[in-house]
Amino acid sequence: MKIAILYGTETGNAEMLAEDIMAELEGAHEVTCANLSDIAPADISDDRFYLLVCSTYGDGDLPASAQPFAESMDGSDVSLAGVHFAVFGLGDSEYDETYNNGSFRLAELMTAKGATQIGERVVHDASGSDLAEDIAFPWAEAVVAQASEHLGQAA
Ligand SMILES: Cc1cc2nc3c(=O)[nH]c(=O)nc-3n(C[C@H](O)[C@H](O)[C@H](O)COP(=O)(O)O)c2cc1C
Repeated sequence: MKIAILYGTETGNAEMLAEDIMAELEGAHEVTCANLSDIAPADISDDRFYLLVCSTYGDGDLPASAQPFAESMDGSDVSLAGVHFAVFGLGDSEYDETYNNGSFRLAELMTAKGATQIGERVVHDASGSDLAEDIAFPWAEAVVAQASEHLGQAA
């Protein structure tokens, strides 16, 4: 299956995790990895499955590298009907009221344009005891398996 990993980051954690997820999946799939700062809404296509990996910054905001994409999405009439994606968030529960808002907002931007979310949003807590990859790798395997059912392709 063709998989595109897109990350939104402020200080690089989501980028490192996205690259680790790519390394984990690329034996069995055709995987690319890009910063959301390099992606326009019109680049999103229904011929691949999107794994979005995004942190939260400021006061529950999207991280800097995701903000231009979010602004373009808000101002765009692009249709993402037929596009499938899953979301993984990086956040910190110390930020009680805005915990992982960024990944939530990113998922909302996608579904508002007609894209279909696969699986529940899964998040990592920087104040927790788990390593991000220990949560993200099983998440990626699970949503890729689900997506391949939806897309009718062998995982
Ligand atoms: C200044 C600052 C603000 C943050 N704000 C939030 C927040 O509002 N909500 C949240 O869940 N995490 C917040 N975090 C935690 C980050 O999302 C977390 O550290 C994440 O791993 C950063 O990933 P990145 O390097 O890819 O941006 C904040 C971290 C910093 C340093």
